[in-house]
Amino acid sequence: MSDERYDPIANPYAPGAGTPPPALVGRDAIIEAFDVALQRIRSSRTSQHQLITGLRGVGKTVLLGKLAALAQHVGYRVVRIEAVGGNDSLRSLLRQARRILEDLDRSQKVTRALRSIESVAITLAGTGVTVERTAATPDREALADVITDLATAAADHDLGVLLAIDEAQMIARDDLRRILAGVHRCGQDGLPLACVLAGLPNLVGDVARAATYAERMFAVADLGPLSPAQVASAIRRPASEIGVEWAEAATEAIIDRSDGFPFFVQTWAYHTWNTAFDEPISADDVERAAPHANHALDSSFFAARIARIPASEVAYVQGLSSLGPGPHRSGEVAAAMDMQTPQVAAFRERLIGEGIIYAPRYGWVEFAIPHFDEYVRRALPR
Ligand SMILES: Nc1ncnc2c1ncn2[C@@H]1O[C@H](COP(=O)(O)OP(=O)(O)OP(=O)(O)O)[C@@H](O)[C@H]1O
Ligand SMILES: [Mg+2]
Repeated sequence: MSDERYDPIANPYAPGAGTPPPALVGRDAIIEAFDVALQRIRSSRTSQHQLITGLRGVGKTVLLGKLAALAQHVGYRVVRIEAVGGNDSLRSLLRQARRILEDLDRSQKVTRALRSIESVAITLAGTGVTVERTAATPDREALADVITDLATAAADHDLGVLLAIDEAQMIARDDLRRILAGVHRCGQDGLPLACVLAGLPNLVGDVARAATYAERMFAVADLGPLSPAQVASAIRRPASEIGVEWAEAATEAIIDRSDGFPFFVQTWAYHTWNTAFDEPISADDVERAAPHANHALDSSFFAARIARIPASEVAYVQGLSSLGPGPHRSGEVAAAMDMQTPQVAAFRERLIGEGIIYAPRYGWVEFAIPHFDEYVRRALPR
């Protein structure tokens, strides 16, 4: 024990949303495989695209960002969007596609791609959001053409295109189908287009339902918790680079409290660093940091999710959390609320839409946020 604290300015840990961790552990195999895929696709060889799934805070956005940076490095232009409901994500996709094309020397292929964008953009801007959703306007079908024409124009300039979509479970099924059709056609025509989709675990099913062939187009990386050894190196590596060591009991305490979820690992390591006295950082230091780490998790990570839930759906969340961690049958949740399954179906659907819960398989639900059941029981007792 010493009187000196560790310098908070030098704190290497990075709790946040999409904030790159100081040591990105456990993802090497995925990154290497995607590197190969990118190079194959650029030389007109077939390869699978990448699906990244997992619960909240498991590191999907960070990995998507890493793969996008890799693509940029090996000659790809990147269209990267975070899908939200409505037309905003499509608009962003079109805007970025246009920007890429405008950077290229004008050629027939570039002009043609710009025209495809116009035809989709007009329907998006013209008739308004609500009409779009229901009426399958032929122009919106041109979304697939935008993708193939963009890849054709890029290929002409010896470039590839990476389409990277985060929160892809938020894309309407018809749009997903159109996007996948474009990606598929590029593969058939040997065009240099690669695709990464990241989202909640439901995304695998969404993709399969959007098009029968789509499942086979993607390699699936289902990100789970990090292993104890991975957690230990996520904590140790960045510290030892600046001459700070962690005792084994300290990393074990964080392994315990985080269950290996990357966001929790970063949060615990960050707060422990700021409160630690011991050298090396000890299990007592982790204990001292507990109020700070727990407060940070409650007030940011968890509270932000609860804030988005309308009062009518809180009862469903309480019902599910009363059953404990893990997936539960929809019927059991309804029973916990003293209701019938059909009566709560609308709540369930809305919570899925908001990314609070997901259906790991038909008729089952689970929180998409690790440790959320515990938080709800603590913060919102019935
Ligand atoms: N492989 C990793 N090793 C260590 N830390 C990681 C790793 N991946 C992500 N993190 C950390 O975990 C946190 C969450 O990462 P990220 O935002 O990418 O998760 P996410 O799955 O996209 O979450 P959400 O579903 O809420 O969008 C960040 O603080 C990030 O630094
Ligand atoms: Mg994310």
